[in-house]
Amino acid sequence: MRKPMIAGNWKLNKTIAEACELSSDLSKCLANFEEVDIVIAPVFTSLTAVAATIKNTPIKLAAQNCYPEESGAFTGEVSPLMLKDAGCEYVIIGHSERRQLLEETDSFINQKMIKTLEAGLKPILCIGETLQERENDEMLNVLATQIKGGLANLSATQMSDVVIAYEPVWAIGTGKTATDEQAQEAHSFIRGLLQGMFTQEVAFATRILYGGSVKPTNVDGLMAQADIDGALVGGASLKAEDFIRLVRFEKA
Ligand code: PGA
Repeated sequence: MRKPMIAGNWKLNKTIAEACELSSDLSKCLANFEEVDIVIAPVFTSLTAVAATIKNTPIKLAAQNCYPEESGAFTGEVSPLMLKDAGCEYVIIGHSERRQLLEETDSFINQKMIKTLEAGLKPILCIGETLQERENDEMLNVLATQIKGGLANLSATQMSDVVIAYEPVWAIGTGKTATDEQAQEAHSFIRGLLQGMFTQEVAFATRILYGGSVKPTNVDGLMAQADIDGALVGGASLKAEDFIRLVRFEKA
């Protein structure tokens, strides 16, 4: 069975001291909680300090981005190996904010996926349609393009380290969550794509998280859906109380 994952994407928030305060609170409250994979993604500058506060707890560290090279003349960038060195186990790749604001393409995202896996880190690949794409009935095409582009040239073996996050762009930070049924429909479609690209085993084993205004009031319904294996959470991951409630979602 797929182990649920609740991942907090802290985005561009919190100083080092604030990040450590939140991660220390989470460490205390979730010290022995092994039923769910718990992941937090602070900004780069907080990674090593936060890593120290979650040592010997089940909480795992993620970065929010990486550059697809090991080292070299790439001013301002950080490589997967460096993130591993800083204590990360996961990296969020292809978040819609980066696709939109920084014009990241599927092929660039695919390079990051490949380099991340080569470095021994686990990528969380984000995909999702905009409101306009959904209204124009392009959602399935968009998801297929992003999945096929993002996962190109990966092997079935590598897929065991890959997590997918379906995040409809219209639901991110807007308070508008996809309904349980809308999310389930997209997740089931994505699982079908994985079966076509890889194998039935890969499709069955790959975790697909939902993201977009997940909060304590809607997490239980989402998590009750057959193909929803967890959540990638922005806003509600910034408060210990809310994030802990998400991690301790109620099973249907
Ligand atoms: P949100 O963000 O929970 O604030 O909508 C989710 C995300 O962008 O990963």
